[in-house]
Amino acid sequence: MSGGPAPVIRLALIPGDGIGVEVMESAKEVLRAVEKAYGAEFATTELDWSCERYHREGDMMPPDGLEVLSRHDAILLGAVGWPGVPDHVSLWGLLIPIRRAFGQYVNLRPMRVFEGVPTPVRPELAAGVDFLVVRENSEGEYSEVGGRIGRGPSELALQESIFSRTGVERITEYAMKQAEGRRGRVHSATKSNGIIHTMTLWDEVVDEVASRHPGVTVQREHIDAMAARMVMRPSDFDVVVASNLFGDILSDLAAAVCGSIGIAPSANLAPDGGPSMFEPVHGSAPDISGKGLANPVGMLWSVAMMLDHLRLSEPAAALMAALEASLREPHTRTADLGGTASTREVTDFVIALLAPGTSR
Ligand code: NAI
Ligand code: MG
Repeated sequence: MSGGPAPVIRLALIPGDGIGVEVMESAKEVLRAVEKAYGAEFATTELDWSCERYHREGDMMPPDGLEVLSRHDAILLGAVGWPGVPDHVSLWGLLIPIRRAFGQYVNLRPMRVFEGVPTPVRPELAAGVDFLVVRENSEGEYSEVGGRIGRGPSELALQESIFSRTGVERITEYAMKQAEGRRGRVHSATKSNGIIHTMTLWDEVVDEVASRHPGVTVQREHIDAMAARMVMRPSDFDVVVASNLFGDILSDLAAAVCGSIGIAPSANLAPDGGPSMFEPVHGSAPDISGKGLANPVGMLWSVAMMLDHLRLSEPAAALMAALEASLREPHTRTADLGGTASTREVTDFVIALLAPGTSR
């Protein structure tokens, strides 16, 4: 880095539950390596907000939690959720309030097939897959509006979806701009044949926004057909724009097509200010937790996205190069990708490549 001393960057770390804690350990070590090699300085606040805390204190985060986070430049999160605490409690008690309070309306989920990584789709289909899911992150199907009426055989449940013109417009605008910096193609996930109010609004607004971006080719596709295409022809995609629910599902599918949910990163971006939050797409994986098997790549790729966001583009690129190198060989990648390495071994390998003088 050039110029005067780098400013101290304030990071809030929320390891969460299960393998969230394990991959956060990798992230902390990588951040220390970045400090050493690049002269960046991170002031970290570690927060024990989790299902364990919920059992102990009765809430996922303290009442002033959002205020605490607001004093940071970015938030890094592992994963939350654990058997014994209903998933809607852990999600609505932590992640969703953070995303909404800070206006993190963009959920960016890049996905690639990495060199050397085996994928469940045939190699000729997997070649060159590199796309970005832009998921609407503040409204849509994930709403608190609704309720349950009555008990017994005649019980009813009603769940409203909320789609605002503003919400659809700003997310599609973001997706078009991303496409302009990439290969100029947007696929919009819809289902307006069956969902006739919210999804027809979605389609109309996408068309309006598309008309302002003549250099971008926009294709509307029903979510079911799009899911099939993602398996059969994943290299067709450049940028996918989707509602909260569709984007959530598609990005897990995308990660699986590219080898494992364990490599998928995400950024919850607050384009209008406020801290953004970076987290792997995967959950707390109780089935492998505590065994040292968790793939740290989803977390570390999220760290690279965070570094980029914080304008530390040089260490971000070096970290991505280190992750690519680790994915290339079975002995430096984890078992979910057909490898033999532990979380520890992948982390050590990546850190060795970040050491001063190695990567620059
Ligand atoms: P999950 O992502 O935790 O696990 C799904 C499968 O993928 C499991 O077989 C797991 O072993 C494997 N897997 C996930 N991440 C991996 C990694 N880094 N390395 C190797 N293998 C990995 O999803 P699941 O099982 O549906 O949810 C478990 C808990 O996590 C639930 O309580 C759920 O609510 C929560 N969750 C939290 C999320 C978050 O914090 N953003 C996202 C998804 C789930
Ligand atoms: Mg998901």
